[in-house]
Amino acid sequence: MERLDKIISSQSQFSRKQVRELVNKKRVIVNGQVVIKYDMKLEEENIEILIDGKKINLQKDVYLILNKPKGYISATEDNLLPTVLDLVPKEFKNRGLFPAGRLDKDTTGLMLITNDGVMSHNILSPRKHIKKVYEVTIDIDMTEEMVTGFFKGIKLSDADCKSADLEIVDKNKGIVTIREGRYHQIKRMFGCFGAKVIELNRIGMGNLKLPNDIALGECRSATKKELELIQEKIMN
Ligand code: URA
Repeated sequence: MERLDKIISSQSQFSRKQVRELVNKKRVIVNGQVVIKYDMKLEEENIEILIDGKKINLQKDVYLILNKPKGYISATEDNLLPTVLDLVPKEFKNRGLFPAGRLDKDTTGLMLITNDGVMSHNILSPRKHIKKVYEVTIDIDMTEEMVTGFFKGIKLSDADCKSADLEIVDKNKGIVTIREGRYHQIKRMFGCFGAKVIELNRIGMGNLKLPNDIALGECRSATKKELELIQEKIMN
């Protein structure tokens, strides 16, 4: 059994204070009854809550797929810069959301925003072998030496990277697949070949490709299928 104000505030955009005010104004209906006590206790399953006659979509775990634009940092708050959470619709505020992993400020593309720490760990842990796929543009031509070097595993100053794939798609453009997510990993890997990354766009995580219905800067709830795909390990 859980308190009504806690249930609503943890699973909707309403804060506890707002819930109390709404209850005091008799604007909350639970299972057909107008609520008079905001601290009434309820089983969390099978409840229907209406606020001002509108059904509240209770949802504990939130999974949003964002197409991250440049200029946003992968954090929950920042004193100076906008964060990816600024791109999340109002109805998902106060839900304990955070980005599952980091993309640099100037990197674009697929990002999962969630409040599910276990899921986030599963996607990010190098032990889980979830691939991350990026479109990359560099300032010089891509070379076979880079392809071989990535495959053998690049040694960075602070770590040895696992084997990565580089597919050259044009003179200075390629698709890179990594199985971990070290700080500035792709930029530093190309840096080992004297190359500077000009554009970096994440197009896949696990077996999920960035859905083409999500415009840059927008996000939407992930479907069950998408969540399955994102957690699929690569076998190659
Ligand atoms: N590698 C990078 O260098 N930057 C990113 O944002 C992601 C991977």
